[in-house]
Amino acid sequence: MRAELERIRQTALAALDSCPDEAALEQVRVRTLGKKGDLTAVLRGMREVPEKERPAIGELVNTVKAEIEARIAAVRSRLDEQRLARSLSEERLDITLPGIRFPRGHLHPLNQMLDTAVDILVEMGFGVEEGPEIEDDYHNFEALNVPRDHPARDMHDTFFVVGDKLLRTHTSPVQIRVMESRKPPIRVIAPGTVYRHDDDVTHSPAFHQVEGFLVDEGITFGDLKGVLSEFLRRFFGPETRVRFRPSFFPFTEPSAEVDIGCVMCAGTGSQPDGAACRVCKRSGWVEILGSGLIHPSVFEFVGYDPEKVSGFAFGMGIERMAMLKFGIGDIRLFYENDLRFLGQF
Ligand code: PHE
Repeated sequence: MRAELERIRQTALAALDSCPDEAALEQVRVRTLGKKGDLTAVLRGMREVPEKERPAIGELVNTVKAEIEARIAAVRSRLDEQRLARSLSEERLDITLPGIRFPRGHLHPLNQMLDTAVDILVEMGFGVEEGPEIEDDYHNFEALNVPRDHPARDMHDTFFVVGDKLLRTHTSPVQIRVMESRKPPIRVIAPGTVYRHDDDVTHSPAFHQVEGFLVDEGITFGDLKGVLSEFLRRFFGPETRVRFRPSFFPFTEPSAEVDIGCVMCAGTGSQPDGAACRVCKRSGWVEILGSGLIHPSVFEFVGYDPEKVSGFAFGMGIERMAMLKFGIGDIRLFYENDLRFLGQF
């Protein structure tokens, strides 16, 4: 019996040591430890072993069984490791190969500027409204305190459509439309396209504005200064210098044009070689928007009581802001859709 066990042990261990794969391993396991395996047969033969010797033989069987089981586990983990190593080397990816880049577009620089301006103002509490691009004379001029034959109409080179219809020359008519349909307090911005018969390096017949206005009780010029200064610093950077200059618009009184320190020459007024800065022409300042306290007559047109409410309004040109922010000298670049230009933003 002992000799038989030793034979089983040696055969099994030798077979295990030369196992090429999982299938062979499984065969050895079944042949040795399976129901009809060699060791099981020995256990069955225990009946013939003299009773005295049984415990010793039993113990020996268990030892041999444990040894074979341990060897099976060891061989299995060796085979597993080999399989992993093989698949790692066979399925290796060369990640140093350059990938395939898909051409991917981005927002037009004007849309980027528009979105930035709108985002800042929305964050400051303004809601967004839109108005028609084909406007009537009443909303574009009359109710904004620009009567027919008023010389201020010359400021806007208007495209007329038919009858009293025209292409809006600014976004200010949205002020009238919103106030006609609502009661104060109002905090609204109105982004959109506007049209003027004007065409040179800094003017385009169609361009974009963002209007903003706020109406409530007790609004002062200080509110206007605070809101616009904050907006411009968020838009152009926290160090931006802002100045308010008296001006004239028929629909605001008092009116102010707002300048910021020239972004091209950092307010010095000159280029590095000493020549005059092309953007601010030596002044160190550039005009960025028009603004003022809403004129009492405008409130009367929309049925508000100018004794009770006051407000401010402002309008800015998106192209102008983009030209200043990016240092672009020719407005036409925005509309030519030359990818060499657009790709830079
Ligand atoms: N609508 C004016 C323009 O286009 C700008 C402006 C808006 C001025 C609101 C004052 C108040 O020139």
